[in-house]
Amino acid sequence: MEIAEKLIKTHSLTRKEALELLKYWEDPATAAKLVQAAEEIRRKYYGDKVFTRGLIEFTNYCKNNCYYCGIRCGNSHAARYRLTEEEILDCCKSGYDLGFRTFVLQGGEDPFYTDEKVAGLVKKIKASYPDCAVTLSIGEKTKEAYRLFRQAGADRYLLRHETANEKHYGKLHPPAMSLKVRKQCLYDLKELGYQVGAGFMVGSPGQTMECLAEDLVFLQELRPEMVGIGPFIPHHDTEFAGEPAGSVKLTLFLLSVIRILLPQVLLPATTALGTMDQKGREKGLAAGANVVMPNLSPVKNRKQYDLYDNKICTGEEAAECRECLGRRVASAGYRLVSERGDFAGAKD
Ligand code: 5AD
Ligand code: FES
Repeated sequence: MEIAEKLIKTHSLTRKEALELLKYWEDPATAAKLVQAAEEIRRKYYGDKVFTRGLIEFTNYCKNNCYYCGIRCGNSHAARYRLTEEEILDCCKSGYDLGFRTFVLQGGEDPFYTDEKVAGLVKKIKASYPDCAVTLSIGEKTKEAYRLFRQAGADRYLLRHETANEKHYGKLHPPAMSLKVRKQCLYDLKELGYQVGAGFMVGSPGQTMECLAEDLVFLQELRPEMVGIGPFIPHHDTEFAGEPAGSVKLTLFLLSVIRILLPQVLLPATTALGTMDQKGREKGLAAGANVVMPNLSPVKNRKQYDLYDNKICTGEEAAECRECLGRRVASAGYRLVSERGDFAGAKD
């Protein structure tokens, strides 16, 4: 309990303290204390607002082979698709009409979508919707590419670090990938003036409490504007098919801890959390999250963006995600708003 109080008072944790705090993740009194503090902090900066981002999953081609991911290049069973520029712009149009003011272009690392093509796309979206934020989530690129996208008008970039522990990073990724490069990308993005989102899966294979403590320390170092976390969910066509999924309870505990560590952070209640628990996203909001990211991708392609098994919002109901989430957010006692929802501490 003392350690929870320390966190609440100082908004910081050393690695050792983080490890100590994590011992209490199943202790109801500690969790309740953290949730209460997280709720107060979130209310102070954002009131009862929950921001919404329209997610456009525009390609599931990927040259990487992250072992946990269903769209890794080594999965020959994945049915590949990529949206045309016209289809992407159509998604933005319908999203805008539904009230979205942030578009997140997410995709695998798809060589077809060259840096120039991405920059051109960002320019077009920003020209048509100057009041909207454009977020990219397309993986590791050169600093020059990140600069090009930024000059084209991209405002934000999501790139989960996945784990801040070298050894664990090596267990989740092929040797061609490295934590060092991943971290450098995040620092490059920060330097270029993006609002940056880092994050990790909870309960990914080989993750220990030490790994999570290192994740929390890394987040304090990087100070990202956004942090995406969700439970690991096994995908049947990966080498982790037989591994257990991550814990919803631990994810909720970490959401509260992150809200306290980075008070103004934008924290989504993720689709993975909603997949593991019917009320997962509502519980995430109650734990300190303040963002939801409904899918705007064409219904015909949604099942194909198959990162993990049983992903929600991919069926017939999918067209109604915006409405559904509005109801869910309201049922949790919050208000889904249309505004861009920039980082409260942002300079611009
Ligand atoms: N379970 C949960 N999340 C996953 N992601 C990829 N594969 C899985 C999985 N099997 C997450 C990664 C990635 C984000 C887009 O989706 O953290 O950064
Ligand atoms: Fe997609 Fe509820 S959010 S159907």
